[in-house]
Amino acid sequence: MSVLSAEAPRKLSVIGITSGYDRADVLKSVSIEVKPGTVTCILGANGAGKSTLIRAIVGLNRVRSGSIFFGGESIANIPTHQIATLGIATIPEGNKVFPKMTVLENLRVGGLLVRDERKVLQQMDKMFQTFPRLKERQNQLAGTLSGGERSMLSIARGLMTDPGFVIFDEPSLGLSPLFVSEVFNIVGKLKEAGVTVLLVEQNVRQTLNISDYGYVLVQGEVVAEGTSVELKQNAELHEAYFGVH
Ligand SMILES: Nc1ncnc2c1ncn2[C@@H]1O[C@H](COP(=O)(O)OP(=O)(O)O)[C@@H](O)[C@H]1O
Ligand SMILES: [Mg+2]
Repeated sequence: MSVLSAEAPRKLSVIGITSGYDRADVLKSVSIEVKPGTVTCILGANGAGKSTLIRAIVGLNRVRSGSIFFGGESIANIPTHQIATLGIATIPEGNKVFPKMTVLENLRVGGLLVRDERKVLQQMDKMFQTFPRLKERQNQLAGTLSGGERSMLSIARGLMTDPGFVIFDEPSLGLSPLFVSEVFNIVGKLKEAGVTVLLVEQNVRQTLNISDYGYVLVQGEVVAEGTSVELKQNAELHEAYFGVH
């Protein structure tokens, strides 16, 4: 699947983890499961702990208790640089790109772990097919792109390793409706290609439309979980936590 790891897709299991900053725990015994080939979402308002959960999974925040397994392998507190070698890509929040590098150079950075130059070029080609705007702007400095284009670039850069498992942290945040649709299209395409996706979002409706299963995080705790159909029907939940019907 991934050019970095040719293994079969693996299940991610987060079991009762606590994690946080300084002395305070943000996550309180959070458990989630992401089955291979699914799109699984984490919904939650600002400050609910969504990014903290992702940071804990990828080794950026210490897991204080509980465990995390990727397939049979324990990955709690794994050094972050090893995450990519497991075939997991993370697209962090806030469409971060290297502004002084061109689009092409940004993609190259995403492909640094890929040793085979042929595969780098192949993957670059695939990204340009998926994101034609990036192809047009390949020699432009990333800092001069529009916000939406920067988002596309940060996603494309994350996908340069051809990952089998992708974690998105609020990819639609701050984007115009056109780019929001593009982001959800990309998630759909990844799923079609058999890629497993963990999608963190506040955009309830569109996220549930594309997800198989979801969790609702409130103040660092999972307060509800279910298939996206079940969560969609849970109107009370929508009103209480998101102010939408
Ligand atoms: N670097 C940090 N240092 C201290 N507290 C933080 C830090 N980052 C986030 N927090 C706190 O952790 C809680 C969860 O934040 P976060 O995981 O970013 O939420 P979300 O991604 O759901 O908006 C919030 O109360 C936030 O203030
Ligand atoms: Mg966040």
